[in-house]
Amino acid sequence: MILSIESSCDDSAIAITEIATNRLLFHKKISQEIEHSVYGGVVPELAARLHAEALPQILTQVEEYFDKLKAVAVTATPGLAVTLVEGVTMAKAIAVALHIPLIGVNHLIGHIYSLFIEKETHFPLTVLLVSGGHTQVMEVKSLTEIETVAKSMDDSFGESFDKVAKMMGLGYPGGPAIQNLAKNGNRFAYNFTVPLHQSPLIAFSYSGLKNAVRLAVLDADGDTTKYPDIAASFEHIATKHLTMKLKKYFKTHKPNTFAIVGGASANLYLRSQIEALLQDYNAKLIVSELQYCSDNAAMIGRVAVDMYKQKLFSNLTSLDVHPKSIL
Ligand code: KG4
Ligand code: ZN
Repeated sequence: MILSIESSCDDSAIAITEIATNRLLFHKKISQEIEHSVYGGVVPELAARLHAEALPQILTQVEEYFDKLKAVAVTATPGLAVTLVEGVTMAKAIAVALHIPLIGVNHLIGHIYSLFIEKETHFPLTVLLVSGGHTQVMEVKSLTEIETVAKSMDDSFGESFDKVAKMMGLGYPGGPAIQNLAKNGNRFAYNFTVPLHQSPLIAFSYSGLKNAVRLAVLDADGDTTKYPDIAASFEHIATKHLTMKLKKYFKTHKPNTFAIVGGASANLYLRSQIEALLQDYNAKLIVSELQYCSDNAAMIGRVAVDMYKQKLFSNLTSLDVHPKSIL
Protein backbone atom coordinates (compact mmCIF):
# COMPACT_ATOMS: atom_id res chain seq x y z
CA MET A 1 0.00 0.00 0.00
CA ILE A 2 0.98 3.62 -0.49
CA LEU A 3 0.18 6.48 1.86
CA SER A 4 -0.24 9.77 -0.02
CA ILE A 5 -0.39 13.34 1.25
CA GLU A 6 -1.76 16.50 -0.41
CA SER A 7 -1.21 20.01 1.00
CA SER A 8 -0.46 22.20 -2.06
CA CYS A 9 -3.12 24.80 -1.29
CA ASP A 10 -6.08 24.83 1.08
CA ASP A 11 -6.99 21.13 1.36
CA SER A 12 -5.26 18.76 3.80
CA ALA A 13 -5.73 15.21 2.56
CA ILE A 14 -4.34 11.72 3.11
CA ALA A 15 -5.12 8.53 1.19
CA ILE A 16 -4.15 4.87 1.27
CA THR A 17 -4.05 3.09 -2.11
CA GLU A 18 -3.46 -0.61 -2.74
CA ILE A 19 -0.66 -1.03 -5.27
CA ALA A 20 -1.77 -4.31 -6.84
CA THR A 21 -5.39 -3.29 -7.47
CA ASN A 22 -5.44 0.57 -7.50
CA ARG A 23 -8.09 0.28 -4.80
CA LEU A 24 -8.59 3.32 -2.62
CA LEU A 25 -8.70 1.95 0.92
CA PHE A 26 -8.91 5.25 2.77
CA HIS A 27 -9.32 8.90 1.85
CA LYS A 28 -9.95 11.88 4.05
CA LYS A 29 -9.79 15.56 3.27
CA ILE A 30 -10.15 18.56 5.56
CA SER A 31 -10.87 21.74 3.57
CA GLN A 32 -10.13 25.25 4.78
CA GLU A 33 -12.74 27.04 2.66
CA ILE A 34 -14.59 28.57 5.61
CA GLU A 35 -11.40 29.92 7.19
CA HIS A 36 -10.26 31.60 3.94
CA SER A 37 -13.73 32.71 2.84
CA VAL A 38 -13.66 35.95 4.85
CA TYR A 39 -10.51 36.99 2.95
CA GLY A 40 -11.93 36.15 -0.51
CA GLY A 41 -8.91 33.95 -1.27
CA VAL A 42 -6.32 31.65 0.28
CA VAL A 43 -4.00 33.26 2.86
CA PRO A 44 -0.79 31.14 2.63
CA GLU A 45 0.42 31.54 6.22
CA LEU A 46 -3.00 30.69 7.64
CA ALA A 47 -3.25 27.72 5.26
CA ALA A 48 0.11 26.37 6.45
CA ARG A 49 -0.93 26.56 10.10
CA LEU A 50 -4.21 24.81 9.36
CA HIS A 51 -2.34 21.99 7.55
CA ALA A 52 -0.09 21.59 10.60
CA GLU A 53 -3.25 20.92 12.62
CA ALA A 54 -5.23 18.84 10.12
CA LEU A 55 -2.59 16.50 8.66
CA PRO A 56 -1.55 14.85 11.97
CA GLN A 57 -5.25 14.56 12.86
CA ILE A 58 -5.92 12.53 9.68
CA LEU A 59 -2.66 10.58 10.03
CA THR A 60 -3.77 9.10 13.35
CA GLN A 61 -6.69 7.49 11.47
CA VAL A 62 -4.41 5.43 9.19
CA GLU A 63 -2.04 3.97 11.78
CA GLU A 64 -3.49 0.49 11.18
CA TYR A 65 -1.95 0.54 7.66
CA PHE A 66 1.58 1.53 8.74
CA ASP A 67 3.08 -1.97 8.71
CA LYS A 68 1.75 -2.61 5.19
CA LEU A 69 3.14 0.55 3.57
CA LYS A 70 5.59 0.13 0.68
CA ALA A 71 6.06 3.88 0.04
CA VAL A 72 4.93 7.35 1.07
CA ALA A 73 3.96 9.86 -1.62
CA VAL A 74 3.49 13.61 -1.37
CA THR A 75 2.71 16.58 -3.60
CA ALA A 76 5.99 18.47 -3.99
CA THR A 77 5.09 20.85 -6.87
CA PRO A 78 3.37 23.16 -7.82
CA GLY A 79 1.57 25.04 -5.06
CA LEU A 80 2.19 27.41 -2.18
CA ALA A 81 5.71 26.83 -0.86
CA VAL A 82 4.70 27.19 2.79
CA THR A 83 1.86 24.68 2.51
CA LEU A 84 3.74 22.16 0.33
CA VAL A 85 6.45 22.06 3.03
CA GLU A 86 3.90 20.84 5.59
CA GLY A 87 3.11 17.71 3.54
CA VAL A 88 6.68 17.09 2.39
CA THR A 89 8.06 17.31 5.94
CA MET A 90 5.46 14.84 7.18
CA ALA A 91 6.18 12.46 4.28
CA LYS A 92 9.92 12.56 4.95
CA ALA A 93 9.37 11.79 8.63
CA ILE A 94 7.18 8.79 7.72
CA ALA A 95 9.76 7.55 5.18
CA VAL A 96 12.53 7.70 7.80
CA ALA A 97 10.47 6.14 10.58
CA LEU A 98 9.13 3.25 8.48
CA HIS A 99 12.22 2.77 6.24
CA ILE A 100 10.18 3.10 3.03
CA PRO A 101 10.83 5.03 -0.19
CA LEU A 102 9.59 8.59 -0.72
CA ILE A 103 7.76 9.60 -3.91
CA GLY A 104 7.50 13.32 -4.77
CA VAL A 105 4.46 13.87 -6.98
CA ASN A 106 3.61 16.68 -9.41
CA HIS A 107 0.13 17.94 -8.46
CA LEU A 108 -0.81 18.56 -12.13
CA ILE A 109 -0.08 14.92 -12.99
CA GLY A 110 -2.19 14.14 -9.91
CA HIS A 111 -5.15 15.94 -11.50
CA ILE A 112 -4.66 13.90 -14.70
CA TYR A 113 -4.64 10.70 -12.62
CA SER A 114 -7.87 11.73 -10.88
CA LEU A 115 -9.37 10.13 -14.00
CA PHE A 116 -7.89 6.76 -13.00
CA ILE A 117 -8.79 6.44 -9.31
CA GLU A 118 -9.70 2.77 -8.79
CA LYS A 119 -9.20 2.27 -12.54
CA GLU A 120 -6.53 1.29 -15.07
CA THR A 121 -4.77 4.10 -16.91
CA HIS A 122 -5.55 4.68 -20.57
CA PHE A 123 -3.44 6.86 -22.80
CA PRO A 124 -3.07 8.78 -25.11
CA LEU A 125 -5.26 11.61 -23.93
CA THR A 126 -5.69 15.28 -24.66
CA VAL A 127 -6.28 16.96 -21.31
CA LEU A 128 -7.68 20.36 -20.37
CA LEU A 129 -6.66 21.20 -16.81
CA VAL A 130 -8.76 23.96 -15.26
CA SER A 131 -7.99 24.67 -11.62
CA GLY A 132 -7.40 27.60 -9.32
CA GLY A 133 -3.75 27.80 -10.32
CA HIS A 134 -3.70 26.49 -13.88
CA THR A 135 -5.43 26.54 -17.25
CA GLN A 136 -3.58 24.39 -19.71
CA VAL A 137 -3.96 21.84 -22.48
CA MET A 138 -1.67 18.83 -22.42
CA GLU A 139 -1.00 15.92 -24.74
CA VAL A 140 -0.45 12.95 -22.44
CA LYS A 141 1.14 9.82 -23.88
CA SER A 142 2.14 8.26 -20.56
CA LEU A 143 3.12 9.08 -16.99
CA THR A 144 6.45 10.49 -18.18
CA GLU A 145 5.50 11.83 -21.64
CA ILE A 146 3.41 14.95 -21.06
CA GLU A 147 3.57 17.95 -23.37
CA THR A 148 1.87 21.25 -22.55
CA VAL A 149 0.53 22.73 -25.78
CA ALA A 150 -1.35 25.77 -24.46
CA LYS A 151 -1.50 27.65 -21.18
CA SER A 152 -2.79 30.82 -19.58
CA MET A 153 -0.71 33.97 -19.90
CA ASP A 154 -2.16 35.46 -16.71
CA ASP A 155 -5.07 34.39 -14.45
CA SER A 156 -6.45 30.87 -14.56
CA PHE A 157 -10.04 29.87 -15.38
CA GLY A 158 -10.85 28.93 -11.75
CA GLU A 159 -9.07 31.98 -10.36
CA SER A 160 -11.19 34.26 -12.56
CA PHE A 161 -14.33 32.71 -11.01
CA ASP A 162 -12.83 33.32 -7.55
CA LYS A 163 -12.06 36.96 -8.34
CA VAL A 164 -15.45 37.66 -9.92
CA ALA A 165 -17.17 36.07 -6.91
CA LYS A 166 -15.10 38.26 -4.60
CA MET A 167 -16.26 41.38 -6.51
CA MET A 168 -19.86 40.34 -5.82
CA GLY A 169 -19.16 39.50 -2.17
CA LEU A 170 -19.83 35.78 -2.66
CA GLY A 171 -16.84 34.48 -0.66
CA TYR A 172 -14.32 31.76 -1.58
CA PRO A 173 -14.18 29.50 -3.57
CA GLY A 174 -16.02 31.42 -6.26
CA GLY A 175 -16.59 28.67 -8.85
CA PRO A 176 -19.59 26.95 -7.28
CA ALA A 177 -21.09 30.30 -6.19
CA ILE A 178 -20.87 31.79 -9.69
CA GLN A 179 -22.22 28.59 -11.26
CA ASN A 180 -25.23 28.75 -8.93
CA LEU A 181 -25.90 32.42 -9.52
CA ALA A 182 -25.54 32.00 -13.30
CA LYS A 183 -28.41 29.48 -13.35
CA ASN A 184 -30.87 32.34 -12.86
CA GLY A 185 -29.19 34.73 -15.27
CA ASN A 186 -29.21 35.54 -18.98
CA ARG A 187 -25.94 34.50 -20.66
CA PHE A 188 -26.37 37.20 -23.32
CA ALA A 189 -27.27 40.13 -21.05
CA TYR A 190 -23.70 41.47 -21.04
CA ASN A 191 -21.65 41.49 -24.20
CA PHE A 192 -18.19 40.84 -22.73
CA THR A 193 -15.38 40.46 -25.29
CA VAL A 194 -14.01 36.94 -25.76
CA PRO A 195 -10.32 37.09 -24.73
CA LEU A 196 -7.73 36.80 -27.54
CA HIS A 197 -10.49 36.19 -30.11
CA GLN A 198 -8.54 37.97 -32.85
CA SER A 199 -5.19 36.51 -31.88
CA PRO A 200 -3.78 33.50 -33.73
CA LEU A 201 -2.17 32.39 -30.46
CA ILE A 202 -3.38 29.17 -28.89
CA ALA A 203 -3.19 30.44 -25.33
CA PHE A 204 -5.52 31.67 -22.62
CA SER A 205 -5.99 34.96 -20.80
CA TYR A 206 -8.53 35.92 -18.15
CA SER A 207 -7.29 39.26 -16.79
CA GLY A 208 -9.09 41.37 -19.43
CA LEU A 209 -12.41 39.56 -18.92
CA LYS A 210 -12.02 39.93 -15.16
CA ASN A 211 -11.61 43.70 -15.56
CA ALA A 212 -14.63 43.93 -17.87
CA VAL A 213 -16.68 42.16 -15.20
CA ARG A 214 -15.30 44.54 -12.56
CA LEU A 215 -16.66 47.49 -14.58
CA ALA A 216 -20.07 45.80 -14.93
CA VAL A 217 -20.22 45.20 -11.17
CA LEU A 218 -19.27 48.84 -10.51
CA ASP A 219 -21.91 49.94 -12.98
CA ALA A 220 -24.54 47.86 -11.17
CA ASP A 221 -23.85 50.16 -8.20
CA GLY A 222 -24.92 47.66 -5.55
CA ASP A 223 -28.03 46.49 -7.45
CA THR A 224 -27.62 42.77 -6.76
CA THR A 225 -30.55 41.87 -9.02
CA LYS A 226 -28.09 42.40 -11.91
CA TYR A 227 -25.58 39.88 -10.51
CA PRO A 228 -27.16 36.70 -11.96
CA ASP A 229 -26.93 38.21 -15.47
CA ILE A 230 -23.32 39.31 -14.88
CA ALA A 231 -22.41 35.84 -13.56
CA ALA A 232 -24.14 34.05 -16.46
CA SER A 233 -22.55 36.31 -19.10
CA PHE A 234 -19.12 35.92 -17.48
CA GLU A 235 -19.42 32.12 -17.29
CA HIS A 236 -20.52 32.05 -20.93
CA ILE A 237 -17.58 34.12 -22.22
CA ALA A 238 -15.00 32.44 -19.94
CA THR A 239 -16.12 29.10 -21.40
CA LYS A 240 -16.42 30.36 -24.98
CA HIS A 241 -12.78 31.48 -24.78
CA LEU A 242 -11.76 27.89 -23.96
CA THR A 243 -13.91 26.30 -26.67
CA MET A 244 -12.77 28.79 -29.35
CA LYS A 245 -9.09 28.13 -28.64
CA LEU A 246 -9.65 24.37 -28.48
CA LYS A 247 -11.40 24.50 -31.85
CA LYS A 248 -8.36 26.28 -33.28
CA TYR A 249 -6.05 23.67 -31.78
CA PHE A 250 -8.19 20.78 -33.05
CA LYS A 251 -7.69 22.02 -36.65
CA THR A 252 -4.19 20.57 -36.55
CA HIS A 253 -4.58 18.05 -33.69
CA LYS A 254 -7.85 16.17 -33.99
CA PRO A 255 -8.93 14.92 -30.53
CA ASN A 256 -9.67 11.29 -29.87
CA THR A 257 -10.15 10.94 -26.12
CA PHE A 258 -10.41 14.30 -24.38
CA ALA A 259 -10.44 14.87 -20.62
CA ILE A 260 -11.25 17.86 -18.42
CA VAL A 261 -9.63 17.75 -14.97
CA GLY A 262 -9.03 20.09 -12.01
CA GLY A 263 -11.35 21.82 -9.55
CA ALA A 264 -13.13 23.86 -12.23
CA SER A 265 -13.87 20.74 -14.30
CA ALA A 266 -16.85 20.40 -11.96
CA ASN A 267 -18.44 23.32 -13.86
CA LEU A 268 -21.50 21.94 -15.65
CA TYR A 269 -21.74 24.64 -18.31
CA LEU A 270 -18.09 24.06 -19.25
CA ARG A 271 -18.67 20.30 -19.44
CA SER A 272 -21.74 20.72 -21.67
CA GLN A 273 -20.04 23.16 -24.04
CA ILE A 274 -16.96 21.00 -24.47
CA GLU A 275 -19.09 17.91 -24.94
CA ALA A 276 -20.95 19.71 -27.75
CA LEU A 277 -17.65 20.75 -29.37
CA LEU A 278 -16.27 17.20 -29.23
CA GLN A 279 -19.30 15.84 -31.11
CA ASP A 280 -17.98 17.53 -34.27
CA TYR A 281 -14.87 15.35 -34.01
CA ASN A 282 -16.54 12.16 -32.84
CA ALA A 283 -14.26 12.39 -29.81
CA LYS A 284 -15.04 11.02 -26.36
CA LEU A 285 -15.12 13.19 -23.22
CA ILE A 286 -13.96 11.79 -19.90
CA VAL A 287 -14.06 13.54 -16.53
CA SER A 288 -13.24 12.57 -12.95
CA GLU A 289 -15.85 11.75 -10.37
CA LEU A 290 -17.09 15.05 -8.91
CA GLN A 291 -15.55 14.36 -5.48
CA TYR A 292 -12.09 13.98 -7.11
CA CYS A 293 -12.17 17.08 -9.37
CA SER A 294 -10.91 19.37 -6.60
CA ASP A 295 -7.67 18.77 -4.72
CA ASN A 296 -7.42 15.40 -2.97
CA ALA A 297 -4.88 12.79 -1.92
CA ALA A 298 -6.51 9.89 -3.80
CA MET A 299 -5.22 11.27 -7.12
CA ILE A 300 -1.73 11.68 -5.63
CA GLY A 301 -1.84 8.07 -4.42
CA ARG A 302 -2.94 6.87 -7.86
CA VAL A 303 0.02 8.60 -9.58
CA ALA A 304 2.28 7.19 -6.88
CA VAL A 305 1.20 3.62 -7.71
CA ASP A 306 2.47 4.05 -11.28
CA MET A 307 5.61 5.86 -10.08
CA TYR A 308 6.27 3.05 -7.57
CA LYS A 309 6.00 0.44 -10.33
CA GLN A 310 8.56 2.40 -12.37
CA LYS A 311 10.75 2.96 -9.28
CA LEU A 312 10.52 6.73 -9.66
CA PHE A 313 11.59 7.46 -6.07
CA SER A 314 12.77 10.76 -4.61
CA ASN A 315 15.86 11.41 -2.59
CA LEU A 316 15.02 11.80 1.08
CA THR A 317 17.30 14.75 1.68
CA SER A 318 17.11 16.53 -1.67
CA LEU A 319 13.34 16.37 -2.32
CA ASP A 320 12.34 20.03 -2.17
CA VAL A 321 9.14 21.94 -2.86
CA HIS A 322 8.76 23.92 -6.10
CA PRO A 323 5.96 26.51 -6.26
CA LYS A 324 6.05 26.49 -10.07
CA SER A 325 5.61 23.30 -12.08
CA ILE A 326 7.93 22.37 -14.92
CA LEU A 327 4.95 21.15 -16.96
O1 KG4 B 1 -8.02 21.89 -8.47
P1 KG4 B 1 -8.45 22.80 -7.36
O2 KG4 B 1 -9.23 22.20 -6.22
O3 KG4 B 1 -7.25 23.54 -6.75
C1 KG4 B 1 -6.12 23.93 -7.51
O4 KG4 B 1 -5.29 23.04 -7.83
O5 KG4 B 1 -6.07 25.13 -7.84
O6 KG4 B 1 -9.31 23.94 -8.06
C2 KG4 B 1 -9.93 24.94 -7.32
C3 KG4 B 1 -10.55 25.95 -8.27
C4 KG4 B 1 -11.05 27.22 -7.58
O7 KG4 B 1 -10.59 28.34 -8.32
C5 KG4 B 1 -12.57 27.06 -7.68
O8 KG4 B 1 -13.27 28.30 -7.72
C6 KG4 B 1 -12.71 26.32 -8.99
O9 KG4 B 1 -11.67 25.35 -8.94
N1 KG4 B 1 -14.02 25.67 -9.10
C7 KG4 B 1 -14.92 25.99 -10.06
C8 KG4 B 1 -16.07 25.19 -9.80
N2 KG4 B 1 -15.82 24.42 -8.71
C9 KG4 B 1 -14.55 24.72 -8.30
N3 KG4 B 1 -14.86 26.88 -11.06
C10 KG4 B 1 -15.94 26.99 -11.85
N4 KG4 B 1 -17.08 26.28 -11.67
C11 KG4 B 1 -17.19 25.37 -10.67
N5 KG4 B 1 -18.32 24.67 -10.50
ZN1 ZN C 1 -5.33 21.25 -7.83
